Order: sequence, then structure tokens, then C-alpha cells
Amino acid sequence: MTAETRQPARGTRIPDAADEQETARRVRLLFERVVPRYDLLNHLLSFQLDRWWRKRTAQRLRETLRRPGALALDLCCGTGDLLRALLAEGASAVVGADFCHPMLVAARRKTARHPSVRLVEADALQLPFPAGLFDAVTSAFGFRNLANYRCGLAEMFRVLRPGGVAAILELSQPRHSLLARLYGFYSRRILPRVGGLVSGCAEAYAYLPQSVRNFLTAEQLASEMAQAGFRPVDFERLTGGIVALHLGWKPA
Ligand SMILES: C[S@@+](CC[C@H](N)C(=O)[O-])C[C@H]1O[C@@H](n2cnc3c(N)ncnc32)[C@H](O)[C@@H]1O
Repeated sequence: MTAETRQPARGTRIPDAADEQETARRVRLLFERVVPRYDLLNHLLSFQLDRWWRKRTAQRLRETLRRPGALALDLCCGTGDLLRALLAEGASAVVGADFCHPMLVAARRKTARHPSVRLVEADALQLPFPAGLFDAVTSAFGFRNLANYRCGLAEMFRVLRPGGVAAILELSQPRHSLLARLYGFYSRRILPRVGGLVSGCAEAYAYLPQSVRNFLTAEQLASEMAQAGFRPVDFERLTGGIVALHLGWKPA
């Protein structure tokens, strides 16, 4: 496909947000409001599967993470659970970036005994890092929230060194029709109520299933990654497709 025939860039949507800047600002405010109960709700609403999904992501990167001197960047790091999974797989130097300050405060608390973890307040669409700095760039449940997916991929690609790998773990759509129906019921009816009640922010947990519905299919994300320059691009569906893990390499 040529640049001229490509679809306009997609990104997350917030009702009434006029443009990408406004969308990003509203997303940040939503996350600020859920920080105190964020981890609890993640584990509760995913029946603890979120831990396994992040572990699987880190495992797929093990070889890269264990290379001497390897540096990894976790984008949209939130409270730092993927950072901890990367460390558990043998990463020695990791940087976590997020544009929500209270999330970084929580991440600092949880990674306090790892002096090699650096935390940076930064927008994933405008990273304050030079090109080619990182051996691995990851994002768990963060990429879907970007106001411009194409721009997010371009930034991931830019900050990776040639030969480096990007990993995107995201909520997706189950393929089996029965599971899709069950999951649809759960994510429309149960998840927003429980999330709203426990977090005290109904808006954030109404946004969550909407953002998943609005997100790219696994095939579309793979295609966007290829268009951003990643070669090869590979993805696996986890837990019946509720989650997809995409890997893409920046050609050496
Ligand atoms: C659902 S949380 C995921 C957090 C964490 N990665 C995890 O696995 O639990 C999404 C995170 O993405 C962050 N985020 C969303 N858009 C961002 C952007 N443009 N730049 C940086 N962080 C962003 C939010 O502040 C939030 O902490």
C-alpha cells in the first residue's frame, strides 16, 4: 500500500475531545483518578491473568534482555508491573515512561529496591530519547490509549536500535464466537460496574471496554507495525484472543 492510499491515522477516542491533544489530556486525567485502586482492579478484573500476560511478554524478550549492556524501555509503564516482569526475566537496565505522574510515583514505590530502574515522565508520542537507544521497547495495556497509533509506532521504531525488538501487549477481541459473546457481556455489563464501584471513577471503567472496541484488530496492528518499518512482525493470541502480544523487529 502506498502512503497516499493509506487510511488516516487512528487512535483512542474520548467523546467530545476536539483533537489528539485534548484526547491525551483526558486520558491522562482518567488514569490519574484510578491510581490508588489500579493494581487491585487489574488483578481482580482479569482474574489475575494480567500477571501471566506480562510474564509471557517478558519471557519472549528474555534473550534480548539478558544481553550484556541491554537497555529496555517500558512505555506507558503505569505502576510498573511490566518493569518488574522484565527485571524478573534478567533485564539489568530498564527505563519506565508514562505521562501520568501519580502512576510513576506508584511505580517508584514498587521498584524502589531496583536502583537500575529509571522512571521518566514522558509522552509516548514525543519521547525525550535519542534515536537507536534501546534494545527493547515494550508496552502493556498502554498502546491502545494513545491518541495516534501510527505516531506511537513511529516513536517506538525511532528509539529502538537496529536489531532491537518492540513488544506490544494489548487487550484484543476473542475469535471464538461463544467466548466473544461471554467476554462482550462481561466487558460491557460487569467490568464497568465493578471497576466504577471499586475505583470511584465510573468514567474510567466505562472508557476501558470502549477503548478495546475502538482498538485495532490483531491483524490491523500487525499491518500497522509492518508499515512503521518493523520486520518481521509476529503476534500471538493469549487466553482465547482476549489479549494479543505483538513483536516486531527493527531491521539490523
Ligand atoms: C492501562 S495503563 C497500563 C499500565 C501498565 N503498563 C500495566 O501493565 O498495568 C495505561 C497507562 O498508559 C499511560 N499512557 C496513556 N497514554 C500515554 C501517553 N501518550 N504517553 C505516556 N503514557 C501514556 C497512562 O498514564 C497509564 O499509566
